[in-house]
Amino acid sequence: MKRIAEVLKQGQPQEEVTIVGWVRTKRELKDFTFLEVNDGSSLANLQVVLDPTLDNYQTFLKQLNTGASLQATGLLVPSPGKGQNIELKATMITVYGESDPEDYPLQKKRHSFEFLRTIGHLRSRTNTMGAVLRVRNACSAAIHRFFQERDFLWIQTPIITTSDCEGAGELFTVTSLDLEKLPRTQNQKVDYSQDFFGGKAYLTVSGQLEAEVMAMAFSNVYTFGPTFRAENSNTSRHLAEFWMVEPEMAFCDLQGDQDLAESFLKYIFKSVLASCPEDLEFFNQRIDNSVLATAESIINNQFERLTYTEAVSLLIKAERSFEYPVEWGIDLQSEHERYLAEDLFKKPVIVTNYPKNIKAFYMRLNEDNQTVAAMDILVPKIGEIIGGSQREERLDILEKRMLEQEISPTELWWYLDLRRYGTVPHAGFGLGFERLVQLMTGMANIRDVIPFPRTPGSAEF
Ligand code: 4AD
Ligand code: MG
Repeated sequence: MKRIAEVLKQGQPQEEVTIVGWVRTKRELKDFTFLEVNDGSSLANLQVVLDPTLDNYQTFLKQLNTGASLQATGLLVPSPGKGQNIELKATMITVYGESDPEDYPLQKKRHSFEFLRTIGHLRSRTNTMGAVLRVRNACSAAIHRFFQERDFLWIQTPIITTSDCEGAGELFTVTSLDLEKLPRTQNQKVDYSQDFFGGKAYLTVSGQLEAEVMAMAFSNVYTFGPTFRAENSNTSRHLAEFWMVEPEMAFCDLQGDQDLAESFLKYIFKSVLASCPEDLEFFNQRIDNSVLATAESIINNQFERLTYTEAVSLLIKAERSFEYPVEWGIDLQSEHERYLAEDLFKKPVIVTNYPKNIKAFYMRLNEDNQTVAAMDILVPKIGEIIGGSQREERLDILEKRMLEQEISPTELWWYLDLRRYGTVPHAGFGLGFERLVQLMTGMANIRDVIPFPRTPGSAEF
């Protein structure tokens, strides 16, 4: 048995092969029937030719409609049709499962991505989702390779946690309490001490705090796993469940953090261009004709680096108006981020040193006492793709910042301990994995770059 990708790449005329797969289309002519068969290994289908000399030709034909599964054995022959060099002249067909052409939801016509989301269990059999998920796989493999080649340890941080890393209050609660009969304390509050973990627990919004623990033992580590945010933002760039890659480096400052992030993005793009050329070509032709140019530009250009203060003054000078007015101290909105990366610099932009009031408690306070050693990487079309910082390694300043942001130093005693025993300068960042796949493929909606999207009101498949 051979994968179709291998047959299309290396198959020789007169070679006998067996393949399996699902019928994408069927075309009946007078003396032949052509099936386009796909097994998910490549964008291209293998054309399987049936002729009436096959045993039970008529019975097979009835069974083999779009969506049906089969095994086909036969000889490879040069294909006269355009778009392929080789086709399979079947000598034996086994049908695994039929598919009713009347009600199979994936018809030959182009379906909208909105419609495909309503058939999440079948949409991976389309060209676009197939290509997305192969590119997604290639990105994951490249991410692990990048860090493994640099001796970073992959750490599995917990999904259930009791702390709100980002302090933004976008947490999903995890409980085994009976919601119909909640235990109450004397003053009628829910008594979480009776809950499964003996206190309030949540789905993690980030593995960073635990990654910092590990960096304080192994120097360089990374996480790559699902994270959860109950932010009710129905945008094309937000999911309630998304994957994040979070490297954390001891003995590293904001400069080193930016350097790593830039070489990381370049490496991933280079690697996926090399491993999925057909899929990326498809995105460039069918989804967004700037996909290949974007990839080349990320690989070949130095990212622009500027401070938040410089970015704000460029935004104020911009010869256009924004929906959300710009002044020093605001959190940059996606329209501002996109203006910088897409219109002004036309390449990725690293913005550093944001005002402390709009950033998380763990970011290192700068000497001006107003800004923190944060960095966000902004890219065309998406806006923020990476958020990171140098961490506050000084115990007294960290405690003060926590109190300012109403985060309990008592609950995070273990995090503070890292500053008590052998503290070191350290830094890290988080890459939104789905936003990376969006950038790579040009897919407009984040719901279409993850196999099973979770968004407000939707978690069906
Ligand atoms: O900027 P964020 O919130 O940073 C952190 O969570 C840090 N703890 C990371 C770190 O320093 N280790 O999130 C990081 C990235 C964002 O830049 C964005 O790409 C992505 O995660 N992201 C989302 N992606 C999809 N859906 C959402 N709701 C997202 N929220 C953040
Ligand atoms: Mg951020």
